[in-house]
Amino acid sequence: MQALDNILQDATSAIHSAADLKSLELIRVKYLGKKGELTEYLKTLGQLPASERPAAGQKVNSVKEAIQALIETRSVELNAVQIENQLASESVDITLPGRAQSIGSIHPITKTFEDLRIIFSQMGFSFMEGPEIEDDYYNFTALNVPPLHPARAMQDTFYFNDGLLLRSQMSPVQIHAMKKLSPPLRMVAMGRVYRRDFDLTHTPMFHQMECLMIDEHVSFADLKGLLNQFLTAFFETDVAIRFRPSYFPFTEPSAEVDIGCLSCQGKGCRICKNTGWLEVLGCGMVHPNVLKEVNIDSERYQGFAFGVGIDRLTMLKYGISDLRSLFENDLRFLKQF
Ligand code: PHE
Repeated sequence: MQALDNILQDATSAIHSAADLKSLELIRVKYLGKKGELTEYLKTLGQLPASERPAAGQKVNSVKEAIQALIETRSVELNAVQIENQLASESVDITLPGRAQSIGSIHPITKTFEDLRIIFSQMGFSFMEGPEIEDDYYNFTALNVPPLHPARAMQDTFYFNDGLLLRSQMSPVQIHAMKKLSPPLRMVAMGRVYRRDFDLTHTPMFHQMECLMIDEHVSFADLKGLLNQFLTAFFETDVAIRFRPSYFPFTEPSAEVDIGCLSCQGKGCRICKNTGWLEVLGCGMVHPNVLKEVNIDSERYQGFAFGVGIDRLTMLKYGISDLRSLFENDLRFLKQF
């Protein structure tokens, strides 16, 4: 009994002087652990005469409970001390500026896609999509470019086996549209096109928008009016527009359209190579052969179409001089938009 009282006394003073939770845990192990003093003591109970065992057993238990309670109380105290120390040592300087969140921005090409979508949906055009992997028929033959026609060389095309290719223009979506819908129709398609070209002003993948309108009594004048409206809305300024006769197999007559240079207002500068003009798109009246191919009566219906480089429009609008910077994803470039 005396020995047990001694254990309790020792434990009590040890617990009181425990300076932190770690040493308190060591004390718990020392007395109550598997090999602790009290546990060892319990094991010797069997050696006592049977008459003394109950009292001794009770005593051991009460000492054990007393030590447990002391440890519990001390650990609450030490916890509080620890929190207080932490609060005292970790101060927050509330005068420091907060961490800024950097907000992403819309890629300039995506912005142009959005602008074009707004402009053309307001003019009553609907939007269509087509596959990036086309076959020879949709990319060329149906567009009045029969096999071995020299006009195929105008576009350096990526070919797969089996007559498949990466579309080299958005014009095949016209064919899909005219096969699916009957006139009158107004459609626009925007997407990726591919050509074997890579330099300052060409990348193997770029973006085009194709526009097609088919109806009775559609004329070149309608095309001119629409282009005027579109280019003025897109560049948000009155732009000068010039048509140059040109050739595309799927339009007749065909034209290329230039706008007055936006940076020198036509006086001549580095960007327009001193011509005062910038080439922006190709257009024309849909060739009767194309209409025939999709079973549209070319006596009754006419149409116009044009194709425009979305990347080029973007470069002109924002004064970007190297096409490749649009695809390098350099944050220093992108953050400017
Ligand atoms: N598809 C032509 C090109 O990529 C552009 C174009 C479209 C020309 C429609 C006329 C009519 O060069």
